[in-house]
Amino acid sequence: METGKFITVEGIEGVGKSTNIEHLTKAIEARGHTVLTTREPGGTPMAERIRELLLHHGDEPMPDVAELLLMFAARSLHVNNVIVPALASGTWVICDRFVDASRAYQGGGRGLPMEDIDQIASLVLGDLKPDVTILLDASVEVGMSRADKRSAADRIESERAAFFERVRACYLSLAASEPERFVVVDATADIEAVRGDIDSIVAAIDSNKLD
Ligand code: TMP
Repeated sequence: METGKFITVEGIEGVGKSTNIEHLTKAIEARGHTVLTTREPGGTPMAERIRELLLHHGDEPMPDVAELLLMFAARSLHVNNVIVPALASGTWVICDRFVDASRAYQGGGRGLPMEDIDQIASLVLGDLKPDVTILLDASVEVGMSRADKRSAADRIESERAAFFERVRACYLSLAASEPERFVVVDATADIEAVRGDIDSIVAAIDSNKLD
């Protein structure tokens, strides 16, 4: 049986990941594929418990390294217990954030060394890699103003604009360094244009032009 495709969706807060992931899921299903939509940190019962630890404003400080390791602990559960079995059974997996979020947030945002992150990534992921990563890109100003309109900010969303500028810059540089895996979509374009971009990406992946 053919293995499923692994698609990850990335971007700073407020770029419209949820809405666009819904559209992406429907577009893939419309082509006759089975799709599993999941998210990080989280995606398994235990990983969702780690998510709570990561995102809630706790009563003790969270060292950057602890944050990184918890992200990867959750990812290890998610990869082994959900993502790899799904792909092996032919299901396409769409993941709302994955390893590039650790590079962008813990590397770019927090300033942890990228070599250390890559070493942990190699330990946790082995040779698993997304086939395609969609980076929804918008300025920090636009992203933050959209995110502000939603519910109260969690621990990471409470960071200042300068943090998200570093995260965005890191995402864009990751995209530039791996153009064969990343597709950058202008998330500030109107919703129909963004959907059109997503439809073209799905068509390209389905015909094996993008992976
Ligand atoms: P979200 O589900 O609203 O995207 O929230 C997840 C938060 O966790 C978001 O602020 C990004 C952050 N995050 C990291 O810092 N590193 C990671 O590896 C992942 C997956 C998420």
